[in-house]
Amino acid sequence: MKVLILGGAGMLGPYVVPLLAPHHELRVTDINPLPFDFAGEFRQVDVANFDQVMAAAEGMDAIINLSVLRQDRQLAFDVSTRGCYNMMRAAVAHGIRRVINTGPHFAVAGPTYERFDFALSPDMPPQPGTNLYALTKALGQEICHVFSEQYDIYVQTYLFYNFHDPATLTPGTDATPFSASWSNAMEIFLPGLAIDLATLPSRCEVFNVFTDMPHGKFSNEKAKRVLGFQPKDDISRLWHKVK
Ligand SMILES: NC(=O)c1ccc[n+]([C@@H]2O[C@H](COP(=O)([O-])OP(=O)(O)OC[C@H]3O[C@@H](n4cnc5c(N)ncnc54)[C@H](O)[C@@H]3O)[C@@H](O)[C@H]2O)c1
Repeated sequence: MKVLILGGAGMLGPYVVPLLAPHHELRVTDINPLPFDFAGEFRQVDVANFDQVMAAAEGMDAIINLSVLRQDRQLAFDVSTRGCYNMMRAAVAHGIRRVINTGPHFAVAGPTYERFDFALSPDMPPQPGTNLYALTKALGQEICHVFSEQYDIYVQTYLFYNFHDPATLTPGTDATPFSASWSNAMEIFLPGLAIDLATLPSRCEVFNVFTDMPHGKFSNEKAKRVLGFQPKDDISRLWHKVK
């Protein structure tokens, strides 16, 4: 499959690109150069620039959006919100039916849910609150949702929060109840690209991506059930008391 990756030069890119490269023909893009070796196609693309996104999406079968800008008010809307708008318009124009968007867990489970303590689902009404990062990502997610209602495009959104390397975890490490290793979490992209779109519950689905956590504050059940995501990180030792 020919896959366009937007924002591939960030923290997730070095895990997603090598994972997908043996299985798919990648066109990796970012506004910045790639900080890692990649033998395939790379283009400099600003997601806020519709013409550039349109040109990059030509001939592609799927789009993965890893772009984000967290702090600056203008740029956050340009990248995290308008970038989704440009991506979806390009998907419509090029007949691309498979889109994978990404974001932080608080684009859905923002402050309103902080006191909730059990089985927080990716299908809850999104409550990002007013945090700029959460809000601009949530708006981008909603734009994807609206496009999926209007057009025959399937959007999967993967939500992440904290990443850990299980090999270096020591008792006392503060793992949030939404943690995973980089390598295990990124495996979600493989079934996301492979799944028969007609088997998705709807044209717009959101997934919590993290390993199994003992307290069950959040739920990753949907990622396992729908996409066959297999949590591999055993971080249960973090719950053992240090003597
Ligand atoms: N890293 C984490 O801990 C974490 C946690 C939760 C969710 N996420 C989500 O994962 C996804 C990827 O995050 P990341 O950590 O790799 O982010 P990052 O900030 O490391 O990388 C984002 C990339 O977007 C690029 N970018 C910025 N402006 C751009 C523009 N105008 N056009 C094109 N590209 C642009 C940056 O150059 C960068 O390479 C995001 O959706 C983010 O919300 C990440």
